[in-house]
Amino acid sequence: MSYILETVDLTKRFGGLVAVDHVNIKATRNKMTLLIGPNGAGKTTVINLCTGVKKPDEGKVYFNPTGDRKIDITGWPSHKIYKLGFARSFQIPQPFLALTVLENVLVAMRGSGEDPVSPLLRGKWTREEEERVERAYRILKLVGLDKLWNYEAFRLGAGQLKMLEVARALAADAKLVVLDEPIGGTDPKYARDIFLKLKELLTKVDVTFLVIEHRIDIALPYADYVYVMDRGKVIAEGSPNDVINNPRVIEVYIGEKK
Ligand SMILES: Nc1ncnc2c1ncn2[C@@H]1O[C@H](COP(=O)(O)OP(=O)(O)OP(=O)(O)O)[C@@H](O)[C@H]1O
Ligand SMILES: [Mg+2]
Repeated sequence: MSYILETVDLTKRFGGLVAVDHVNIKATRNKMTLLIGPNGAGKTTVINLCTGVKKPDEGKVYFNPTGDRKIDITGWPSHKIYKLGFARSFQIPQPFLALTVLENVLVAMRGSGEDPVSPLLRGKWTREEEERVERAYRILKLVGLDKLWNYEAFRLGAGQLKMLEVARALAADAKLVVLDEPIGGTDPKYARDIFLKLKELLTKVDVTFLVIEHRIDIALPYADYVYVMDRGKVIAEGSPNDVINNPRVIEVYIGEKK
């Protein structure tokens, strides 16, 4: 089995608190892996350690973007990890709100030169610029935002902004995208649409999703594999069915207020 991401005994302490305690998680290529757990379980810290935002005290992080090269990225700076194809969508999506949806995707594209937007303003494109716009449009179609290409990002709803983040990650050639609460701030109906769209993307593009989510009732059915964390440790893992029937998981989620 080829895993795109693998952590081995990942550990992080904040003073006396072991926020992440020998965590071993794996993300299977072209699948959706879900990381759940109550507040303070250590989910965001795991992601911070994987993406170079924080350095682990112990353990390893391996990234295998193309399936033929397992790279030890432990302690690498985040820009280097991003360059390899490991993108992270932050809890609050931060596209350029004054730019249009299409411009936001163009800006995220690799090698887009000094100024990817001015051709749009000029109204005159070189062949290369044209190809970029075509590619950006194809990506927007994949995430279901093609009809809104000319909308300024500030006009999008919370769910659409999340999909724009995904589009930007795809434009940047990300192979692994971490989504921290992708359905935060959206109503249940649209939240399900987001997960359906993400699942559809997995069948169409060479990408892998690692999703952190609170609303497990909505997220769980769409996951291919689930890790449950509590107080720094992975307390359960397996298929959605496995974890939902696990007594330790039930115990942790009873009394969960959020
Ligand atoms: N920079 C820090 N300094 C000190 N303690 C921290 C720091 N970052 C996180 N922690 C602590 O580490 C533990 C894990 O936090 P983390 O944010 O990873 O949890 P989480 O599972 O993402 O929670 P949430 O669901 O609320 O986002 C918590 O007890 C938190 O208070
Ligand atoms: Mg968190």
